[in-house]
Amino acid sequence: MNWKGQSLVSVQELSRSDIEALLDTAALMQEDPPAYASLLSRSILATLFFEPSTRTRLSFESAMARLGGHIISAPNASEMSSAVKGETLADTIRMVSGYADVIALRHPRAGASAEAAEVSTVPVLNAGDGTGEHPTQALLDAYAIRRQHGSLDGLTVAALGDLAYGRTIHSLSLLLAKYQGVTLRTVAPRGLELPKDLAAEVRRLGLRLEPADTLVDAVADSDVLYVTRLQKERLPAHLPRAPGLYAVDRAALDALPRHAIILHPLPRVDELPIWVDADPRARYIEQAHGGVYVRMACLAAVLGASL
Ligand code: ASP
Ligand code: CP
Repeated sequence: MNWKGQSLVSVQELSRSDIEALLDTAALMQEDPPAYASLLSRSILATLFFEPSTRTRLSFESAMARLGGHIISAPNASEMSSAVKGETLADTIRMVSGYADVIALRHPRAGASAEAAEVSTVPVLNAGDGTGEHPTQALLDAYAIRRQHGSLDGLTVAALGDLAYGRTIHSLSLLLAKYQGVTLRTVAPRGLELPKDLAAEVRRLGLRLEPADTLVDAVADSDVLYVTRLQKERLPAHLPRAPGLYAVDRAALDALPRHAIILHPLPRVDELPIWVDADPRARYIEQAHGGVYVRMACLAAVLGASL
């Protein structure tokens, strides 16, 4: 795929070879950051965030800065942009696409990035759209997995958490479905299972989906334990909000193979106790840091930089 000028709304837009090429670029950038320090020196990134963020916005901005580019930012666009005055997302994007060469957009509504990409004259990178997707997160998840295991083919990933309202697992399951012989074991509280249409789609694409009753069952023989937070801000009123609804425990870590890694898109709350940080398999900090290089690779690709 020639990424130049393209938006990234869903993992579905990427082929396996697109993903591998992007992760290869990210690895080169991580090996030798100074070699890319002026790659995008004439480009401007706009970060337009209508929802809170620590990692995604700052790592996009760090990525652009490391490539020598410039940043304009609306970090709390839901309160401080003219959306407050009633301006539509489409009009906001029409404006910002005249101010920047690429837009990273986070929005509480699923489908907002697709809508933005329709009207934008510059690439829109989906930085999380409601319960929809978070494609650059899935790419950085894949980057962390590939760094540990060399390849994603043939792996077993155990996913624990809110798989219904958490967008990162939506994008990750679509990404895993592009690889050969991958199994996704899922453990979720009742009502928070992977959405049925998504489950059907990833099965159709070749992912082996195995719901498990307990975390211990799920992690046995797994290569990755992927933990996600209860998406409290998105839960319908009839679902429980109690903290401590699910969490990684000692029994699960005992059952998790030694070669496996523990990932989490972060932020973590009750589901990943801090004592897990001392486990040599814990990789979530490294995972998040790798996001800078993955986003550098995404920016370079959509802006058509020659490496
Ligand atoms: N930070 C990720 C997201 O925005 C995961 C989370 O918030 O739980 O989707
Ligand atoms: N993983 C992630 O998207 O983190 P933030 O919500 O802090 O951006």
